Amino acid sequence: MAAPNGAPLGADSEPRRALRVALLGCGVVGTQVVRLLTQQRADLAARVGAPLELVGVAVRDLTIAREGVDPALLTTDAAGLVERADIVVEVMGGIEPARSLMLSAIAAGASVVTANKALLAADSPTLYAAAEAAGVDLYFEAAVAAAIPLVRPVRESLAGDRIKRILGIVNGTTNYVLDQMATEGLDLDLAVKQAQQLGYAEADPTADVGGYDAAAKAAILASLAFHTRVPLASVHREGITGITADDVAWAGRTGHVVKLLAIAERTDDGVSVRVHPALVPASHPLAGVHGAFNAVFVEAEAAGELMFYGRGAGGAPTASAIMGDVVSVARHRVLGGRGPVESKYADLPMLPASAAITRYQMRLDVADRPGVLSQVAAVLAGHGVSIEAVRQAPQPVGLDGEVAPAASLAHLIITTHAATDAALAATVAAIAELDSVTRVVSVLRVEGA
Ligand code: HSE
Repeated sequence: MAAPNGAPLGADSEPRRALRVALLGCGVVGTQVVRLLTQQRADLAARVGAPLELVGVAVRDLTIAREGVDPALLTTDAAGLVERADIVVEVMGGIEPARSLMLSAIAAGASVVTANKALLAADSPTLYAAAEAAGVDLYFEAAVAAAIPLVRPVRESLAGDRIKRILGIVNGTTNYVLDQMATEGLDLDLAVKQAQQLGYAEADPTADVGGYDAAAKAAILASLAFHTRVPLASVHREGITGITADDVAWAGRTGHVVKLLAIAERTDDGVSVRVHPALVPASHPLAGVHGAFNAVFVEAEAAGELMFYGRGAGGAPTASAIMGDVVSVARHRVLGGRGPVESKYADLPMLPASAAITRYQMRLDVADRPGVLSQVAAVLAGHGVSIEAVRQAPQPVGLDGEVAPAASLAHLIITTHAATDAALAATVAAIAELDSVTRVVSVLRVEGA
């Protein structure tokens, strides 16, 4: 049985007994957690005030060799393991059995540290409620942007401020893919294959390229930032599957880069949370975030703009965030005290995606004859969408930039001032109906200008 409800262990004069740590899952992240627990044993004990003892590692398959992990610690009995721990670290992922195991651990008096963004986004209220009832900690720094301290700053450091907006790159795989498309001219499929070969993308890359991973992280951050439950279903989500090499090339020609952004905003009317690809000006700091790195801006009323940057994926970076949480919850076991509980008092309304206000860039293939531009401009004006800039180029017919032989075709690149999603969608539908428009090639939001 674990120490009851986070009570301090032992009096000052007694040697502190070791805190028992159980690990659920031992893949890329779990093995790094074991490495840090082992290699930094003495430092961790000094920082916590008691030794941390790894008492077991729950895995599905005992036959797989795990470098640096004592085979005697491996067990397939995860349910039995969580009953004999003070701290349970969950890195197995997925909804079940992770949720049931964490709830069992909490019921048995253990604090839980998890990297499970999918579960937290889907059902954090259940975990929060259980942890609060049992008087134990629920920590999850590694669930959002891995090594980058983001959950703690939003949940604790900025707890006295008012967060207005969070804007960032929270998925390393898609950032790598888009970066390769921009710098190497690759198409999406080839860039995803490269990401898979490097171990960034899973064999099934849907969670990353479909924006699901980023949407879960956005929901978690928005819930913390706005003291409001943000259900995953309220997060407007678009992945990068519709982004072409042509989009990325034109982004470059117009002074932008394409990034998959997570955006959480508080307006007078409520909270808007969305994940979608967007054009970011090349001069913006997010444009300089390359490879699998993550970067997040947090804008708060008093603090102003803060930027967090670092490795948002990978075994060791994720293990670093997990171990920070382990030290925090272990300190509470030794010294008393508790981590934050769920804060949902603000209960702000969730705004629909159609209410989001952004600038847009649309590219159209049009007939190159007098009056076409004014027709297109009239449709924009009719929907209350203001034009910021228009550029016309000969219509290319191939990826190599070869130009259409007929001088009667042109490519229009129109950038708008800020407009609602709803106004823009109606505008695009009307433009597509014009006889002079052969194709709406792409419509991308512009952020960060
Ligand atoms: N697959 C994620 C990424 C890391 O590429 O950023 C885990 O959330």
